[in-house]
Amino acid sequence: MDRGLAWPKNIRDLLQSLRMRSKYAIILVFAIALFIIEKENNIISKVSDKLTLKQSPQALLEVNGTPPNLLDLENGSLLSLSELDSAFSQLRSHLDNVTWQLGGSQAAIKGQPKGPRRHVLLLATTRTGSSFVGEFFNQQNNIFYIFEPLWHVEKMVSFIAGAANAVGSAIVYRNVLQQLFLCNLHILENFITPPPEDHLTPFMFRRGSSQSLCEDPVCTPFVKKVFEKYHCKNRQCGPLNITLAVKACLQKEHIALKTVRLRQLEFLRPLVEDPRLDMRIIQLVRDPRAVLASRMVAFSAKYGIWKKWALEDAASMDEDEILKLKGNCENIRLSAELGLRQPSWLRGRYMLVRYEDIARFPLQKAREMYSFAGITITSQVEKWIAKNTQAPQDSSGIYSTQKNSSVQFEKWRFSVPFKLAQVVQNVCEPAMKLFGYKPATDPETLTNRSISLVEEIASFQVT
Ligand SMILES: *[C@@H]1O[C@H](CO)[C@@H](O)[C@H](O)[C@H]1NC(C)=O
Ligand SMILES: *[C@@H]1O[C@H](CO)[C@@H](O)[C@H](O)[C@H]1NC(C)=O
Ligand SMILES: *[C@@H]1O[C@H](CO)[C@@H](O)[C@H](O)[C@H]1NC(C)=O
Ligand SMILES: *[C@@H]1O[C@H](CO)[C@@H](O)[C@H](O)[C@H]1NC(C)=O
Ligand SMILES: *[C@@H]1O[C@H](CO)[C@@H](O)[C@H](O)[C@H]1NC(C)=O
Repeated sequence: MDRGLAWPKNIRDLLQSLRMRSKYAIILVFAIALFIIEKENNIISKVSDKLTLKQSPQALLEVNGTPPNLLDLENGSLLSLSELDSAFSQLRSHLDNVTWQLGGSQAAIKGQPKGPRRHVLLLATTRTGSSFVGEFFNQQNNIFYIFEPLWHVEKMVSFIAGAANAVGSAIVYRNVLQQLFLCNLHILENFITPPPEDHLTPFMFRRGSSQSLCEDPVCTPFVKKVFEKYHCKNRQCGPLNITLAVKACLQKEHIALKTVRLRQLEFLRPLVEDPRLDMRIIQLVRDPRAVLASRMVAFSAKYGIWKKWALEDAASMDEDEILKLKGNCENIRLSAELGLRQPSWLRGRYMLVRYEDIARFPLQKAREMYSFAGITITSQVEKWIAKNTQAPQDSSGIYSTQKNSSVQFEKWRFSVPFKLAQVVQNVCEPAMKLFGYKPATDPETLTNRSISLVEEIASFQVT
């Protein structure tokens, strides 16, 4: 089966022929990506019998198996219609072939274990502790965990489209996630650069952060002279065989992914409503003051303006940066509000977690997350958490407030100038209110350890 092998070439050729300067190019590229992904969707759903697919919004993209009507654009683009036409018919003929091959072998779905398979998405933004929280799922060996698979997608999408609109990329992200939750890791081959050959790649981003990609049988014998940038941590493996990874994914009982690249919860609705998936979305949030402080250290070039301003005396802060910060906070708040309102399509599938609670009560929070996901937590995970947070094994014990991670989480209070905290408090007020992050009224409060800036919240309410 040479599905994944053929895909990248095809898409890349297409993109090559489509790379041009007009704004229509961007729209076209997204539309084509959507079309391709959509088509793969259909292949998979054809193979998985018995399941009836609900009508999804993306179904609008296709009418009777013909490509979406992309060409209703005025001919201001630099691409000739005939060029596009031939690209499409080539693609379609290829897709028909792939469909036929898959239909014959049913390979993708065979071997899927029975029982309630859960699909857990850890939805976060950068510097919210998502790698750490992702480990809660990575450490359990009946879960296939993938760390930031959308990294590849983001790289390629921003390369092609430049500052393309966020909606376009969000739809591509969403559709890639959907395929990944179905264990179709081959979808990533379209985005990994350089393209995998023979489904083999030494370039899988942060492979070492996914135990599932580093254990037998996905860890093949080490190959000398092949440099793997994101190699496995505890052992040497050959380049990642994506076909093997797909097989391993299908063998595991559950699948979990973490991403910091999706902004709006509502975009995930088609996944939640996909009858092939049993989604559980965990949104992880953190005090925006702490996030900004952490980003200024971690992404110092990108946050140079903030750093400069923090050190200067007067000068007002850059308006664009303020707007960006506001946008970030509002996106997070709007997603959380949607989730907390529990619309019928999301009921029982959304959970909001604060990093500060995880830092203080890691074991308890991990158990809550697992319970929400409907997966039994193993002692393996509990041991890992205890070891990495200094949490006592029994979280109900009186020692539960004396953990190392519980000291770490508010270190930011002593590293940022008060005016920075103040700006964030103003700009992100609605989000902070919702999540129970208290403003510091003066510099003394900010640095007074005996004053907590985190409200104790048993259950979040949308007002
Ligand atoms: C589009 O193509 C038609 C026919 O070739 C031509 O008459 C028209 O001027 C073109 N429009 C633009 C905006 O280039
Ligand atoms: C479709 O498959 C046949 C053989 O099965 C092959 O000859 C043909 O070239 C394929 N077409 C495309 C477009 O890949
Ligand atoms: C990758 O794994 C598959 C499935 O076991 C195997 O058939 C294929 O030969 C492997 N590819 C390479 C290049 O070793
Ligand atoms: C944090 O961990 C270190 C080393 O494990 C230990 O020495 C220290 O006492 C711990 N701090 C707290 C507050 O538990
Ligand atoms: C810190 O806050 C506590 C409680 O409000 C107060 O009693 C204490 O004096 C404060 N410490 C300092 C150094 O301001």
